[in-house]
Amino acid sequence: MKKLLVTGASGFLGWNLCQLAKQEWDIYGTSFSHSVEIPGITLMTVDLRNFEELKQIFHEIKPAAVIHTAAQSSPNVCQSHPEESHAINVTASFNIAALCADYSIPCVFTSTDLVFNGLNPPYQETDPVSPVNLYGEQKVMAEEGMLERYPMTAVCRMPLMFGVAAPPAKSFMQPFIQTLREEKELSLFTDEFRTPVSGQTAAQGLLFALDQVKGRIHLGGKERVSRYDFGRLLVEVFELPSEGLKACRQADVKMAASRPPDVSLDSSKAFNLGYSPLALREELEALKGKV
Ligand SMILES: NC(=O)c1ccc[n+]([C@@H]2O[C@H](COP(=O)([O-])OP(=O)(O)OC[C@H]3O[C@@H](n4cnc5c(N)ncnc54)[C@H](OP(=O)(O)O)[C@@H]3O)[C@@H](O)[C@H]2O)c1
Repeated sequence: MKKLLVTGASGFLGWNLCQLAKQEWDIYGTSFSHSVEIPGITLMTVDLRNFEELKQIFHEIKPAAVIHTAAQSSPNVCQSHPEESHAINVTASFNIAALCADYSIPCVFTSTDLVFNGLNPPYQETDPVSPVNLYGEQKVMAEEGMLERYPMTAVCRMPLMFGVAAPPAKSFMQPFIQTLREEKELSLFTDEFRTPVSGQTAAQGLLFALDQVKGRIHLGGKERVSRYDFGRLLVEVFELPSEGLKACRQADVKMAASRPPDVSLDSSKAFNLGYSPLALREELEALKGKV
């Protein structure tokens, strides 16, 4: 089997990707501050901000392809730690694209729907970017710099993701379920919309992009939903107590990073190429008993 380097294997998406891709690839996964074990996968601890370490990994593994999911993925942390987050989200991404160019191998990057300001949804790949927080700005810089260094890069703009999260990774869904099961209050935005997919669907999208995409692609789901309506669907599918679920608005919660109202992605380009997320209800049904 050919070797696939997956950065961020200890993270939510990287872990889901490793589960799926190990059927077809010999996977080398990286972690940083958390150690993980994933059966069938070779894991390494690496600080991707260190160019020498990164070069060494490419030299030792000689991967046939790279999927770069590692990041500081919290907008609030990026906002309060601009330099540290720039080093992993921007500089390390530039270096990975440059090394993939040197080795002439496919490179897939995980960007975000938060490159948009949320005022003109749904967004196509050709729409101008307009981030409202530093995390979004860093992803825009990474996209542009990676494509400059290596135009063959597949820049995948990911939507909000949920699903199985093996420790230490996290998904927002498990705390939602726990809060409702404990009959505590869970307030969700009625005025924030996304096009979510499960981690497994997202992983399928990344593997599809590895084969078929150069440049930018949107890997959103088929449905636009508010956080609150997602919560209602969760209650229904997982048969959770619903008393705790409350509606609130973005303006009710103060956060370090601004949040766009509606970054729903128009992913018809990917759908036409064969990327086929399930309906949200089906995605959630498939997760019953697993999260
Ligand atoms: N989750 C979402 O809903 C969402 C939505 C849109 C886009 N995205 C993007 O999708 C990608 C995956 O997101 P995710 O939710 O899976 O993120 P995550 O769970 O926060 O995982 C981040 C990964 O990056 C690694 N990492 C962080 N700093 C590192 C460093 N200096 N050197 C090496 N590795 C480092 C972490 O390793 P350790 O944990 O071992 O430190 C972890 O494996 C990210 O690029 C994110 O921006 C996510």
